[in-house]
Amino acid sequence: MQVDQILSEFRLNKEDLKEIMKRMQCEMERGLRLETHEEASVKMLPTYVCSTPEGSEVGDFLALDLGGTNFRVMLVKVGEDEERSFKVETKNQMYSIPEDAMTGTAEMLFDYIAECMSDFLDKHHIKHKKLPLGFTFSFPVRHEDIDKGILLNWTKGFKASGAEGNNVVGLLRDAIKRRGDFEMDVVAMVNDTVATMISCYYEDRSCEVGMIVGTGCNACYMEEMRTVELVEGEEGRMCVNTEWGAFGDNGELEDFRLEYDRVVDEASINPGHQLYEKLISGKYMGELVRLVMMKLVNEDLLFNGEASELLKTRGSFETRYVSQVESDTGDRKQIYNILSSLGVLPSELDCDIVRLVCESVSTRSAHMCAAGLAGVINLMRERRSEEAMKITVGIDGSVYKLHPCFRDRFHKVVRDLTPHSDITFIQSEEGSGRGAALISAVACKMVVVLM
Ligand code: BG6
Ligand code: GLC
Repeated sequence: MQVDQILSEFRLNKEDLKEIMKRMQCEMERGLRLETHEEASVKMLPTYVCSTPEGSEVGDFLALDLGGTNFRVMLVKVGEDEERSFKVETKNQMYSIPEDAMTGTAEMLFDYIAECMSDFLDKHHIKHKKLPLGFTFSFPVRHEDIDKGILLNWTKGFKASGAEGNNVVGLLRDAIKRRGDFEMDVVAMVNDTVATMISCYYEDRSCEVGMIVGTGCNACYMEEMRTVELVEGEEGRMCVNTEWGAFGDNGELEDFRLEYDRVVDEASINPGHQLYEKLISGKYMGELVRLVMMKLVNEDLLFNGEASELLKTRGSFETRYVSQVESDTGDRKQIYNILSSLGVLPSELDCDIVRLVCESVSTRSAHMCAAGLAGVINLMRERRSEEAMKITVGIDGSVYKLHPCFRDRFHKVVRDLTPHSDITFIQSEEGSGRGAALISAVACKMVVVLM
């Protein structure tokens, strides 16, 4: 076997991409419909974030961001400038989540979150204030309202026991109560895709899609209320969290999954789940590259057929190396350094092959993800019966932001597959903090109006 033959399996042609897009749309429709929702792989979860109301509270909000690379606590000041448009200022602090809090009990995890909040409030001398809190919680949640929702299942390496099937806001409130040294008014819980969309909406009123390509991969969009069968009501639009990472869990991607994808899945904390996400996101990309390299070594096509102990070790090739390899300017220095830090001494040809491996895996990721987004955008256009649709997509996540070519490859395929839409992509900055605070601001206003 030749290198090119092995890598060609990662290539998706236009017909493949259209097929993936069609299957994604089919699962999305099934997820929206009451009678097929339960068995659909793409859950299409209502978020209770509705067609973007005008007017909101101004003031200080606390925001939490759990589920990406970093856990963050933020203080967000929402104000208005002279033109009455929103001005948002944030102060934030990152905390790392210890492994035992991620995989221990829910109580341990939420106690740790409350401990970080307490530390943050101390540092900013605001412990005495009972602030409204917006919680960006980036996992599949079945909402009953904007401030109430049940965790369906963990994804991305989290596994804290006793959380699945429970109200996440309740778990947070209980942990705050257990500490007893501060009070907080949890007013909204949102997915990171939703926070991203909302934060971009305040810059561009056409932003009706939010997407993350980072540790995980997911998208949300504004769907017509009449088609969101899980929620009563016909008027206006509601944001739906697709949870498309689980696409493929019913076998829809079997003809596209490769031997490396199966190994990654089997070794993961949630085998058989989040299969589309495992083809795309940062949590798995580096390991896919390593497995392809090992295949090439075993076929005697790389490193003279010999791998170091480190390269044989699961997880040793980090996803950030994929970006670094593809950023190499041509002198192979960067590639050489990464490989030698993993205990191999590569020839020039080895470096070039490793670059091709990275390109193959990351290009497939961008194209797979583009097919999903094209599916969402084409579905929105059909619903709106618009000849040509103008739409903005807000995006966040380390793969999208840090990989040198992901973005261009991704944009190109999305545009190829959506010939009747005019798409603007905006990268969200401080998306989750700003988004969660802005949604909380609106939620506070609604409470005020209702009272
Ligand atoms: C961050 C957002 O910037 O991006 C998070 O604030 C989001 O809410 C994250 O989860 C996703 O990217 P990553 O790469 O950290 O998983
Ligand atoms: C995973 C989560 C999803 C989140 C995404 C990006 O797919 O299930 O809720 O939006 O990762 O962080």
